[in-house]
Amino acid sequence: MTKKIRTAILISSRGSNMQALVEAAQAADYPAEIVLVGSNRPDAEGLAWADARGLRTLAIDHTRHASREAFETSLQEALEAVDAELVALAGFMRILTAPFVEKWRNRMINIHPSLLPSFRGLHTHEQALAAGVRIAGCTVHFVRPDMDTGPIIAQAAVPVDSCDTPATLGARVLGAEHVLYPAALRLVASGDARCEGDKIFMKQNVNSSLPLYSVTD
Ligand code: GRF
Repeated sequence: MTKKIRTAILISSRGSNMQALVEAAQAADYPAEIVLVGSNRPDAEGLAWADARGLRTLAIDHTRHASREAFETSLQEALEAVDAELVALAGFMRILTAPFVEKWRNRMINIHPSLLPSFRGLHTHEQALAAGVRIAGCTVHFVRPDMDTGPIIAQAAVPVDSCDTPATLGARVLGAEHVLYPAALRLVASGDARCEGDKIFMKQNVNSSLPLYSVTD
């Protein structure tokens, strides 16, 4: 197998998507290796989980930095110290500046709990329920300076039940995230998905011609 892509994961709290990526990366044929789990919050539960599994972890406390730029300088140093080639944001709740994002252009991916471009920002499940959509889901995309934008690598859909609350819908979407993110990181790290300009090219056409329906009710 060719060299694994050195991947850093950035989190801010629970880190369940980080766990899904770490577990996927244990497979011998997985094309990414996790070289760092970083958090802007020292008390992030996910950091303790990663630490307990012997992963390299680092807290870069944003409250101890005078500015966003100073925080990002520390972050960049941490990424360079482990020779990170790819960054996977997984519930990382800090807005990154345009210069930092550009530095990692097409080398930084994010998971968002909606079918983008619908429902950017926070409270995505509330937004989805308020809009009355029958299908919700999650998206993995390359990061661009505008929040929750960027070329879409992969999406997963789940049905919306008429009795859903933000919590029940969120749990269903989160289950899909844990499957989608490892699959999307595999696509990127293997080179099967690459980004030219703002368009994604897949090595193989993985899309089926079958339509998807929301048929729960
Ligand atoms: C996930 O829903 C992710 O899509 C969003 O923040 C949440 C993080 O959850 N960006 P976790 O920390 O991965 O458990």
